[in-house]
Amino acid sequence: MHALVVVAHPDTASFTHAVARQVIAGIETHPGHTSELADLAAEGFDPRFTVADLGLFNRRGAAEASVLAEQQRIDRADLLVLAYPVYWWSMPGLLKGWIDRVFTQGWAYDDLPEGRTVKMLGRLAVQLIGIGGADQRTYARHGYADAMQTQIDHGIFGYCGAPVVGSDLLLHSDAPSREKALRQAFEIGSRLAVAAPHWRTAPPHLGPAERNGAAVTPGP
Ligand SMILES: Cc1cc2nc3c(=O)[nH]c(=O)nc-3n(C[C@H](O)[C@H](O)[C@H](O)COP(=O)(O)O)c2cc1C
Repeated sequence: MHALVVVAHPDTASFTHAVARQVIAGIETHPGHTSELADLAAEGFDPRFTVADLGLFNRRGAAEASVLAEQQRIDRADLLVLAYPVYWWSMPGLLKGWIDRVFTQGWAYDDLPEGRTVKMLGRLAVQLIGIGGADQRTYARHGYADAMQTQIDHGIFGYCGAPVVGSDLLLHSDAPSREKALRQAFEIGSRLAVAAPHWRTAPPHLGPAERNGAAVTPGP
């Protein structure tokens, strides 16, 4: 299994980056499993949606080179891990912009004229890791955890047909919970490597038309 671990945080000394490193260590503790870190801030990914991006959404023009490069590295992976700090009960703008620009019409999904949607990412397993400063009680009391799951797991990856194989919130309001969260991150990586052969994803590396994972479903 090859994982692309995407991190959206400007500081490599942050807790978010430490979590991403632990996930990678957990994956790579199992021989034969590899990973690549995509540090969106360090790489200078521009999250601003462009006129060209809008053209793609409307089936005009071609993807910009930077967008194509992102799609290609996702295509090389069996698993996409998103490790991000929770900002305002959601993902940071950098990561949201990455999804807005990279998960394009014709590559991630295809909205058919008659109102149905072809889900094109059935071959890509997804693990979400939100890293938050608030405690579990706050997430539960206000329904933030459920809201995030609905919007991100279901609304984004469900729409594209990418199976969410894990969705975790790592909360670290104090030092002991920080240590616990880092251990959890390692275990998540390790669990992903062990579980990978059992995922029921479509075969990777196929063109959109041949992807077995592509499924036509009613629209949103
Ligand atoms: C702009 C901003 C918004 C934030 N919003 C939330 C939030 O809605 N919920 C939460 O649990 N933590 C929130 N936090 C705290 C971050 O999630 C916390 O900084 C995160 O766990 C990452 O730690 P790190 O920056 O050391 O990686 C926010 C932090 C910032 C800077």
